[in-house]
Amino acid sequence: MLPYAETGGSLTAWRNRVCGQGEGEAGVTNDFEPVAPLPPSAYVDPERYERERLSIFAKEWIAIGDAAQLERPGAYLALTVANYPIVLVNDDGLLRGFHNVCRHRAGPMVWDGSGTCRSFVCRYHGWAYGLNGTLKSARDFGGPLPTEELSLHAVTVAEWRGLLFVNLDASPTPLLTWLGVLAPQSEAFDLEGFVVSHRSSHELSTNWKVYAENYQEGYHIPLIHPSLNKQVDSARYHVEVVGSASIHSAPTRDGSVTNGAWLWRFPSLALNIYRSGMCLESFWPTGPVTTRVEYTFFFAADTSDEEAEAAVDSSIRILEEDRKICESVQRNLASGIYRPQVLSPRHEVGVQLVHSLVTRALNEG
Ligand code: FES
Ligand SMILES: [Fe+2]
Repeated sequence: MLPYAETGGSLTAWRNRVCGQGEGEAGVTNDFEPVAPLPPSAYVDPERYERERLSIFAKEWIAIGDAAQLERPGAYLALTVANYPIVLVNDDGLLRGFHNVCRHRAGPMVWDGSGTCRSFVCRYHGWAYGLNGTLKSARDFGGPLPTEELSLHAVTVAEWRGLLFVNLDASPTPLLTWLGVLAPQSEAFDLEGFVVSHRSSHELSTNWKVYAENYQEGYHIPLIHPSLNKQVDSARYHVEVVGSASIHSAPTRDGSVTNGAWLWRFPSLALNIYRSGMCLESFWPTGPVTTRVEYTFFFAADTSDEEAEAAVDSSIRILEEDRKICESVQRNLASGIYRPQVLSPRHEVGVQLVHSLVTRALNEG
């Protein structure tokens, strides 16, 4: 978020809330109807988590990383999103995606990770599927089989400006429509010219909403991110809500100017874009009280290794600071003593946004 490359300043933070737009005013912009804050049980209840999986993570687009990972025919990427094992593949130039769940007895086609293949051969008993998901053969089955009825269950895959997205819904909102304000806000940047230099994954012991809410406010910066606080005027951290997205900004303390975009889209996408690079952050639950955070760092070709490493290190340090407070909040929510009271009208509209969108998705409003 800091203008690390464009101002020649220090190579520090890289994440959304630490921008340097310079002109942001204190407070927030709110264009949605707030709801009652979520109860503590919403952060710990396994049954509630199941409903969020179905109503949110099986319906919204989830960013997976850079599309270059599937550039070559036969390249695949297998991972588990919100307890849905999926596999994405380049089928002779066509991006496809499937639940990584065999139609026989639920074995996996491939283990989580990446690689290349010409077909999917189930790891359990060896049924073979084409990369288009159709069952081609059932090894040594010993009887008739309606192969045409036993294709892999498909998921929807799409690419936007070099980024890979998946949606578990068979007919989701088109990705560009879903991105909303993120598309025009990032239009001026040469995303396609960036190259991935680093990826990192982090497992947090907290409900995904604790992390999402933490992401949505700069109120905590002075206490949780002291080094970051030296560089941005967190009192003037600004969050503008546009539909299901938010645009973040905060002036730098030294008055330096940068041209960046710091964007968030419900439920779990953050894009921090600069002239010299970009950080894609995506996160999803791995259970009721655990969350996986995935970073993909992109840089312009003329970025030095030192600059890139410093930006990555800084970002991960901030994540670790956020981890500590989010995991502590999670323990406190689980203690049973907390009852939701008030949110700051100046700083926490983004938190309200998360509550509103979750409530709406679950039809609880
Ligand atoms: S579970 Fe896949 S072949 Fe048996
Ligand atoms: Fe933070």
